[in-house]
Amino acid sequence: MIGRLNHVAIAVPNLTVAADLYRDTLGAKVGPPGDEPNHGVTVVFVELENTKIELLYPFGENSPIQGFLDKNPSGGIHHICYEVENILDARDHLISTGARILGTGEPKIGAHGKPVLFLHPKDFTGTLVELEQV
Ligand code: CO
Repeated sequence: MIGRLNHVAIAVPNLTVAADLYRDTLGAKVGPPGDEPNHGVTVVFVELENTKIELLYPFGENSPIQGFLDKNPSGGIHHICYEVENILDARDHLISTGARILGTGEPKIGAHGKPVLFLHPKDFTGTLVELEQV
């Protein structure tokens, strides 16, 4: 059901430091920061040959990653995103297996303008999983 790894999202306590690290130390192609008020994050995209890294920093109040950074002050992997062909089929299959979908269970439009869902980390070996329809 899941296809390619679309991205790995890393919450960071300092976006400039993290972007410099990926650009200068790791030698990756690093884009400019972009605010995404609807998702409560500022994002820097790191383009790799086979996937992307998204460096996430809280934007505004009630950012969904603030609690994560409070618990992980040095930052850390926040979620991984797998591509699926049909997000409603994927959701219905997952529900039939007993997996929990976060939120209302209805897909939202994600950071790339495509429908996404998040799966409960306790059902997936402690990892928050995002599914994105491509
Ligand atoms: Co994501």
